[in-house]
Amino acid sequence: MNLDFSQIVPYIPFMIEGIWVTLQFVLVAILVGFVIGTLLALCKIGSIKPLRWFADAYTSMFRGTPLILQLMIIYFAIPQLFAYDISPFLSAILAFGLNSSAYVSEIIRAGILAVDKGQTEAAVALGVPYRQMMINIILPQALKNILPALMNEFITLTKESAIVSTIGYLDLMRRAQVVGADLYRNFEPLLFVGILYWSLVMVLSLLGRWVERRLNVSD
Ligand code: ARG
Repeated sequence: MNLDFSQIVPYIPFMIEGIWVTLQFVLVAILVGFVIGTLLALCKIGSIKPLRWFADAYTSMFRGTPLILQLMIIYFAIPQLFAYDISPFLSAILAFGLNSSAYVSEIIRAGILAVDKGQTEAAVALGVPYRQMMINIILPQALKNILPALMNEFITLTKESAIVSTIGYLDLMRRAQVVGADLYRNFEPLLFVGILYWSLVMVLSLLGRWVERRLNVSD
């Protein structure tokens, strides 16, 4: 069998550096996705019809097309229209943030609808304004219920992040390819970053479980 792990040793720091490069845009994208996703969810459960249509169409579009296509449209196609040379980093944040917001909006919408109706009725009966009711009463309860689903979304984005290697962003995946091309051997670097991705996902799920346990204490 042709295997020699000693050859990737000099490249290990280069590949490990990719963890931060990957996490950097995933973290920003998840925040962008959460903020836009919350706004979309509010549009979906609200009573203003055009906003509801917009949010539904948005979700349908972003969930109905491949993420890699959205990434390529942002990186290759939109610059053609506006003559703006967008960086791989910004493209990645936009594509992942916008895509994630579509998924997150559905998670949050379901979370809000799952909060007991009595909570809304009590707030309305007490004369609490809509905005305040949402921010102080409904959303905090909804967030607690959907935390596992949100953590899942975080993990999905971390794994899907590997597709940014196709636009030249020097993430974990791309680094494995660079090392593979340098050494003329791909198995070792790919296996190595595979272990790094897996460790990342394990840390994220442990973190999720820990936060969940903390929140359950208050029950
Ligand atoms: N592979 C899927 C696609 O290309 C990934 C979608 C991203 N998923 C997510 N939960 N944000 O469409």
